[in-house]
Amino acid sequence: MLGIPCIGAPEQGGTKVNIVVTGGAGFIGSNFIYYLLKHHPEDHVICLDALTYAGNLATLEEAMKNDQFRFIRGDIADRDIVEKLFEEVKPDIIVNFAAESHVDRSIVDPGVFLRTNIMGTQVLMDACRKYGITRFHQVSTDEVYGDLPLDQPELFFTEDTPIHTSSPYSASKASADLLVLAYSRTFGLPVSITRCSNNYGPYHFPEKLIPLMISRALADQSLPVYGKGENIRDWLYVEDHCSAIDLVMRLGRAGEVYNVGGHNEYTNIEVVRTILRELKKPESLITYVTDRPGHDMRYAIDPAKIHSELGWLPSTKFQDGIKLTVQWYLENRFWWVNILEGDYQNYYETMYANR
Ligand code: NAD
Ligand code: DAU
Repeated sequence: MLGIPCIGAPEQGGTKVNIVVTGGAGFIGSNFIYYLLKHHPEDHVICLDALTYAGNLATLEEAMKNDQFRFIRGDIADRDIVEKLFEEVKPDIIVNFAAESHVDRSIVDPGVFLRTNIMGTQVLMDACRKYGITRFHQVSTDEVYGDLPLDQPELFFTEDTPIHTSSPYSASKASADLLVLAYSRTFGLPVSITRCSNNYGPYHFPEKLIPLMISRALADQSLPVYGKGENIRDWLYVEDHCSAIDLVMRLGRAGEVYNVGGHNEYTNIEVVRTILRELKKPESLITYVTDRPGHDMRYAIDPAKIHSELGWLPSTKFQDGIKLTVQWYLENRFWWVNILEGDYQNYYETMYANR
């Protein structure tokens, strides 16, 4: 066994695919683990996660009951842990979700973003080269393209849009993407990258716009909207992102980038008003606060490539997905209340005190 904390069923042997999901105790990674266990029950799924403030083992409670699943606590930037994991688990596919993911935190403290998002990706790929894998898949973001102007709605990000980052977070993700493509070209590592737009859905950490607004509105607290609330995001229900990654890591061409998005563009204020309507709470809760420095205006994905090459299409429209999401937060209060009662409370005071 690995000399590191490890929970869940050991490997069963056989010829099934071993998939290591890094960052699987976070929002999208955990949804992806449940997606794999449901749609590929024959595969072995191993989660490697450091359990930072954003990682929550409670999220994986159901997965722990499945013999095909196993959790290992560890840092992707720790070469010893990563190499031990490769020696024992012998993964076929690595899907790298592990990252510092919140733009606001990257503005306060960029260092950990560079370490995890760039160096961590390098450590994982070095292990892939050393031990051999069939695919290293990097979960990236549309934020690597920077932003689009509000007055040209005909513009979209394609895979050929130049990298043009705004925040330390997006710069770290873009750096990792460049490194992944360099490992493909120089070392022939079989890699793929997906660049997705904003996700929403179950297990979304309540520091991000949608879960923050839901949890605060339910407590009749003010809803801090940055600037004028006119920035646009292109929202994708998390399960649709999971199906896209699953397709690309198995069938996507090695060395390629695929954009993922579903043409669900809304201004932030529209999103907040929709949530208030769903919760039957008053708009007087909305408070306009000082804008995010370097705030990207608009993201909008052109998903033509993943559709034409792999037949991927999203299945959930925003108006349905937001209802499902609000419902989930209503039915799973214990999940987010536990988070809010921890360190996160201090975080809220620090981030919003003087805005
Ligand atoms: P998240 O913050 O909810 O989860 C990140 C997970 O990574 C946590 O479980 C955390 O414990 C783990 N982690 C952090 N540092 C680690 C380290 N050094 N070693 C091992 N594990 C570590 O993030 P998310 O929103 O689920 O995003 C997952 C990935 O998807 C990220 O790479 C992000 O850039 C990308 N992405 C996110 C979105 C979005 O809307 N949330 C959209 C596109 C792409
Ligand atoms: O586009 C993909 C990206 O989406 C991912 O790469 C990131 O990991 C993910 O966090 C997300 O980044 P955003 O910065 O777009 O998400 P966030 O939820 O932080 O903010 C969404 C919008 O809402 C953004 O325009 C800022 C605004 N906002 C956010 C918060 C937290 C507010 O107005 N008030 C807030 O309190």
